[in-house]
Amino acid sequence: MSENKVNREKPSQMAEGIAMQRFGESNKPEDERICNDPYAIHFISPEIIEFGMKHPDEAKKLIENTERRFPGLSSSIMARVRYFDDFVERSIDEGLEQLVILGAGYDTRAYRMEELKNNVKVFEVDHPNTQSFKTRKIKEIFGSTPEHVVYVSVDFETEKISQKLFDNGYDPLKKTCFVLEGLVMYIPPEAVARIFSFITENSPKGSAVIFDYYPQSVVDGNCKLEVGQNIRNHLIELGEPLQFGIKEELIEDFLEEFGFLHIQNITRRL
Ligand SMILES: C[S@@+](CC[C@H](N)C(=O)[O-])C[C@H]1O[C@@H](n2cnc3c(N)ncnc32)[C@H](O)[C@@H]1O
Repeated sequence: MSENKVNREKPSQMAEGIAMQRFGESNKPEDERICNDPYAIHFISPEIIEFGMKHPDEAKKLIENTERRFPGLSSSIMARVRYFDDFVERSIDEGLEQLVILGAGYDTRAYRMEELKNNVKVFEVDHPNTQSFKTRKIKEIFGSTPEHVVYVSVDFETEKISQKLFDNGYDPLKKTCFVLEGLVMYIPPEAVARIFSFITENSPKGSAVIFDYYPQSVVDGNCKLEVGQNIRNHLIELGEPLQFGIKEELIEDFLEEFGFLHIQNITRRL
């Protein structure tokens, strides 16, 4: 498969993989886990759950092998989930009116954060092939899709989010938090630029965006760490290759060009 070959014909495997991580963490004792997602299990294929229950030792070995191939990845994803959860909760406390989750995948914040249900309109934006699987599951779990959630299907690569969001009731005057968790690395630079421009041009003061990114070296294949190479190669094999990275020392410049203020770059120096 060529390095740039993207396969979005089926629901995102990465979205399922992240749900699997949340499921694993949620199964730990309450005083050990750092996040809890009671709905994650619904987005994992039944065969995987069954295998884990029937063959716990083999499943454990597979997890250990994955950790050897991608050391630290699983725990960093869990830390990301918790960090993003805390950020959204703080935004709610500070009077959030809209939450826009771009590349929502199987994000379940709209369903597990009670505070969102009364006062905040949540827009979940994702590719139609992943979103249709999600809405089907949400209907199975809750009987219907909740009223406070609006589903917007978009291919960021070929479509603009602006019209889609406005058509679905997005209000540019309302205080908004944009969540891009595990998204920007999977879409081309032009699509990332369209999203960031939309945010700064169409949200009022006090709005915020939270996102994670890969260093450019991992995306290019120049990362000196084996884990960086392993992640890159694995994503190419899955058909969800890395497409966008940022040179870490340039992150502030990159964001200032779009007009962002109060930039905070939280990182672990490698
Ligand atoms: C790694 S998953 C993350 C999902 C979710 N944010 C999470 O953290 O669990 C990346 C998500 O981005 C979506 N995505 C990737 N490329 C996209 C595109 N071109 N258009 C729309 N969605 C896209 C995928 O469908 C998938 O749900």
